[in-house]
Amino acid sequence: MVHKRKKVAVIGAGFVGSTAAHWAAQKELGDVVLLDINEGAAKGKALDLFEASPVEQFDSKVTGTADYKDIADSDVVILTAGMPRKPGMSRDDLLQTNAKIVKACCEGIKKYAPNSVVIVVSNPLDAMCTVAKQVLGFPRERVIGMAGVLDSARFRSFVAEALDVSVKDVQGFTLGGHGDTMVPMPRYCFVGGVPLAELLPQDKIDAIVNRAVNGGAEIVKLLQTGSAYYAPSASAVQMAEAILKDQGRILPCAVELDGEYGFKGLFMGVLVRLDGKGFKKVIELKLNDQERAMLEKSGAAVRELVEALAKLQY
Ligand code: NAI
Ligand code: 2OP
Repeated sequence: MVHKRKKVAVIGAGFVGSTAAHWAAQKELGDVVLLDINEGAAKGKALDLFEASPVEQFDSKVTGTADYKDIADSDVVILTAGMPRKPGMSRDDLLQTNAKIVKACCEGIKKYAPNSVVIVVSNPLDAMCTVAKQVLGFPRERVIGMAGVLDSARFRSFVAEALDVSVKDVQGFTLGGHGDTMVPMPRYCFVGGVPLAELLPQDKIDAIVNRAVNGGAEIVKLLQTGSAYYAPSASAVQMAEAILKDQGRILPCAVELDGEYGFKGLFMGVLVRLDGKGFKKVIELKLNDQERAMLEKSGAAVRELVEALAKLQY
């Protein structure tokens, strides 16, 4: 029997990329190729991670490269190349620099991994998904942005901490763009099956929502030299796992909307079903007036960024 392992390419061997490679290898999602414009960093980190495999007992092969030929036939590509933000910067300040980087990477992905599902991580996320989709020319099912899993993970961690319960029992998700206008959905947060509103007073829920929305900035302020990477990389790898194992998981992801929630051609965070071919369908919820207004505001912010992008040379 010919046994073919799955293959995961991670583009960008910085903090998010190398940590994503770590999670993916340790979970034995497949063989992992780490690619960076800085060949030494990609090769060095990949070799170091591979040398951990006998200790951690994983059979994933991990290799580093600067050559797109080496990502040939990848099943999933996690795209993390690009600058992170520094204190005082918003994700949007990264627009032009990262658009150039994402474009260059997607040209390589399109050439060598034309059948892959691409998980975009580079910021500003929703705009970088637009660049990736345009350059790749893949169907919308195969270009998916990571933000909602992370934003919800932040929210879920703080809920678990506030209630002193296992994180495993806290479900919840976030909609909208990955920015200050993201739309947390506490109404759909359940703890062991119980609605959050029955367990915590509204002012505590509001404080948690606020901390989750500003979760990225909180970490940038602490680190001073870059942005979060453990939770972001774990989130991207959870999406990769859902795809590689054809799990049919329901996760909040940024996808190009085609009329859902009244938006067309815009990348926004929504709940989708992830399987081996990417995302299959958007699960459209009945929003209340407040949630609808927040989603409209978030959509307008994403649209503004995409319009600014269209005026730039990259
Ligand atoms: P980093 O600076 O540690 O790593 C970025 C890597 O990209 C560097 O190794 C750099 O050499 C590489 N790179 C630059 N140009 C390249 C090119 N043309 N081809 C290949 N590689 C190239 O940054 P970090 O912390 O890993 O963050 C990466 C990106 O992910 C940033 O844009 C950051 O804002 C974003 N991010 C997004 C999140 C989300 O929720 N969507 C969460 C966390 C980070
Ligand atoms: C985050 O949310 C910077 O987008 C990144 O941590």
